[in-house]
Amino acid sequence: VGYVGSTDGSDAVDVVLDGLSQLEYRGYDSAGLAVPTPSMRVSKAAGELSALEDVVSRPALAGEPVGIGHTRWSTHGKPSDANAHPHGDAAGRVAVVHNGIIENYQRLRDDLVDAGVAFQSETDTEVVPHLIGRYLDRGADPEAAFRLAIDQLEGSYAIAAVFDGSETVYAARQDSPLVVGLGETGTYLASDVPAFIEYTDRVCYLENGDFARLSADGAVITDGAGEPVDRPTETIAWDSEDAEKSGYDHYMLKEIHEQPTALRQCLRGRIDELEGTVDLAELAAIDHGGPVQFVACGTSYHAAMFGAERLRSGGVRAQAFLASEYGSDRVPVDEGTLVVGVTQSGETADTLRALREADRAGATTLAVTNTVGSSAARECDHALYIRAGPEIGVAATKTFASQQLALALLAFELGDGPTRGELEALRDIPGQIQTVLETTTARAVAEAFVDADAYFFVGRGYHYPVALEGALKMKEITYRHAEGFASGELKHGPLALVTETTPVFAIVTGDGETARKTIGNVKEVEARDAPVVAITDGESDVTRYADHVLEIPAVDDISASVLANVQLQLVAYWVANLLGRSIDKPRNLAKSVTVE
Ligand code: G6P
Repeated sequence: VGYVGSTDGSDAVDVVLDGLSQLEYRGYDSAGLAVPTPSMRVSKAAGELSALEDVVSRPALAGEPVGIGHTRWSTHGKPSDANAHPHGDAAGRVAVVHNGIIENYQRLRDDLVDAGVAFQSETDTEVVPHLIGRYLDRGADPEAAFRLAIDQLEGSYAIAAVFDGSETVYAARQDSPLVVGLGETGTYLASDVPAFIEYTDRVCYLENGDFARLSADGAVITDGAGEPVDRPTETIAWDSEDAEKSGYDHYMLKEIHEQPTALRQCLRGRIDELEGTVDLAELAAIDHGGPVQFVACGTSYHAAMFGAERLRSGGVRAQAFLASEYGSDRVPVDEGTLVVGVTQSGETADTLRALREADRAGATTLAVTNTVGSSAARECDHALYIRAGPEIGVAATKTFASQQLALALLAFELGDGPTRGELEALRDIPGQIQTVLETTTARAVAEAFVDADAYFFVGRGYHYPVALEGALKMKEITYRHAEGFASGELKHGPLALVTETTPVFAIVTGDGETARKTIGNVKEVEARDAPVVAITDGESDVTRYADHVLEIPAVDDISASVLANVQLQLVAYWVANLLGRSIDKPRNLAKSVTVE
């Protein structure tokens, strides 16, 4: 959040803290703010925003017109006072806040350290103020120094900077959202509209490569060469509660729609298509040739099943266990075993216990998590971050897709390296999800079956965990009976449950052996008059046996399992919506379960 007000009556600290409280849902492990007038003051604190409110000296900063602030969701470096933004140069001339990931930060940091710069934090962000400082030392004015520093960055960023004694906020954007708000008494900047919607509804969205210079009476937006660019001013019709959900009725729907962005973030800097390699910098120290065991719960267990299958097809011995069933007395762990805890929160008690037992038995441990600084990340020997961004809805959606992708990357790191085609396939998933999100059939399917007695989901291979996940989503948010089965198992019992009031969702992609076998199972349910919903790319003739089709693009089975899951998320969402359920906070469930 940034703000520049006209001097009479503005209080930047009020505006910035208010704005941050509206954005706290985006990340909340530490927070900070900088007020540069009449001279630079920076306050920051680990923990929730209230921790920052406690340390900010309100009387000393009262009435100052300019400020920037930030709440952090860690990607590099644990949550701590030192890692909280803003970051500054050694002389206190500049303060910077940043969202995103600076991919080349290590090289920039090494250069700066060689030149004698002392870093205060472990963040990627801190290279920015030191670069700016370097250009100020060389005589550049603040705006030139800011532009020269931004020019050095590779990766994603929404950045705001203020300079000692100056009433200007500078901003730049690449692949992370940033929006300017134009008010009567001041100009606002934020990564999302809710930060300032209570003050103004007139906004300009910055685009990639844009720079902005904010003053009390407006903003000048320019391109990388400094030429003015015209960004239309729009009027936002949301109230602040809608805005927090970006106009979606529920966080869950918003998070389903955030999947393309989440997956791009997961892949960023990790695949090199030119070289044809996967580079997981966090795992550089892992040199593993032994077996892999996954431990996880709930949705994360389904991702772990997918991961185990993926690793096996890359030549690695891999198995997924329910964390609550995992015990070192029953599980053969030795020093050659890598035990991978898949947990979006990093705090699930069952998973932590399993990881601790594995560690005691001598295994190497790895946390695959969304939460930097979580117990799993801290306790394991290694951590791989899925970078999905905060997920508020209790039912996991975007974190599942991000886990699938992160585990596909892990498979390349531990097993056979990727072919170029496989890398391209990963790269293309975010765009393909966008295509799926633009279809409208999931809602029609939900309407057709909102009164069903039970919902069954079947799939084979990579689609089996997705069948389980489809059923879990349905149970969690609709409170209706739903079950997922390996499609080959249907005939071994569950078929007895199938009637004309139990729709069967079958995931069938491609037209190979797996598809043919699942189609055989589909015929079995069709013969018992069950309605069939095929989640398919249309490559096989499954549509002949289906009453409804949820279409996905024609891709390999790994990508298809990610895409099919998105359709099932949407069906569960719309059934729950039609039933008027408490979608973001289903009864009896918690986002993170810290008891065994
Ligand atoms: C809880 C949630 C589930 C989640 C599971 C594992 O039960 O309600 O949605 O899948 O925990 O959570 P984790 O944070 O370990 O991925």
